[in-house]
Amino acid sequence: MNIEKIMVVGAGQMGSGIAQVCATSGFEVVLYDIQEEAVSKGLANIYNLLSRQVGKGKLSEGERKEIINRIQQSTSLQDARDCQFVIEAAVENIDVKKDIFKQLDEMTRPETILATNTSSLPITEIAAVTNRPEKVIGMHFMNPVPVMKLIEVIRGLATSDETYEIVNKLGEKLNKVPIEVNDFPGFIANRILLPMINEAIYALYEGVATKEAIDDIMKLGMNHPMGPLQLADFIGLDTCLYIMETLHEGLGDDKYRPCPLLRKYVNAGWLGKKTGRGFYVYQ
Ligand code: CAA
Repeated sequence: MNIEKIMVVGAGQMGSGIAQVCATSGFEVVLYDIQEEAVSKGLANIYNLLSRQVGKGKLSEGERKEIINRIQQSTSLQDARDCQFVIEAAVENIDVKKDIFKQLDEMTRPETILATNTSSLPITEIAAVTNRPEKVIGMHFMNPVPVMKLIEVIRGLATSDETYEIVNKLGEKLNKVPIEVNDFPGFIANRILLPMINEAIYALYEGVATKEAIDDIMKLGMNHPMGPLQLADFIGLDTCLYIMETLHEGLGDDKYRPCPLLRKYVNAGWLGKKTGRGFYVYQ
């Protein structure tokens, strides 16, 4: 299968990062969002990140122009009809994702592969709303997408070997390292990362140490690039809570119970870096 054109559904932080990586690797990209404003904002983010690379001498102005020119803006899912591949990176809500996949199933050619960047929702359930569950797969990129090497490739119950192989090769073309996992709540990355973050929040909640001390201990003692509370702010506290709830509900063990302090911050609207306040305050 020859992949030339990829639609990315959702122009937020993850979607625009995925679009940037695809266009940088030479693919034609259709960047879709419901509102034109969201697409323009996503494209502006890409332009700014590429400009930083130009400033550092890692990219020429000509290359930046070529990458940007490969990205078509869209507010119609119908634009997926001439794409061989779709990566959905919309909001983490199972009903929204099912609705998008139903529409994509109707609008794309039968051979088009439909991937989702979900961080914890069941691939099998999303695939079940389409008439091509064998061509539905999880492709979980990490934030910030242009920097992080990993793609968790999640096989749903019906995902075919052929689809998996195509996604694996695409991941390598994107200069990433695809790693195969099965479809269980939180997959691997978030099943391990989020309980660590949740435990750090419990430690803060119980007054074991200050937030700075907790983060410094993990940075200096474990060589983590960011402390767990700083990372939680970076991911978004609403996303952290949502993933913990998915783990708690899906795996049924109380060790995944979200910390009440995390819930309190989310209820206060302190969602981390994106709202200017989480465990830390951002200007
Ligand atoms: N977008 C794109 N590029 C970025 C970036 C961003 N938001 N932030 C930093 N970069 C780039 C910089 O431009 C720089 O690039 P060059 O090497 O080409 O110059 C490089 O990353 C290093 O950046 P800095 O020197 O400014 O800063 P740093 O060394 O502190 O690295 C970091 C920043 C890469 C974000 C690092 O702190 C880090 O790795 N943090 C942990 C990230 C992490 O754990 N991500 C996973 C989150 S969990 C997830 O995504 C899954 C989920 O479902 C919740």
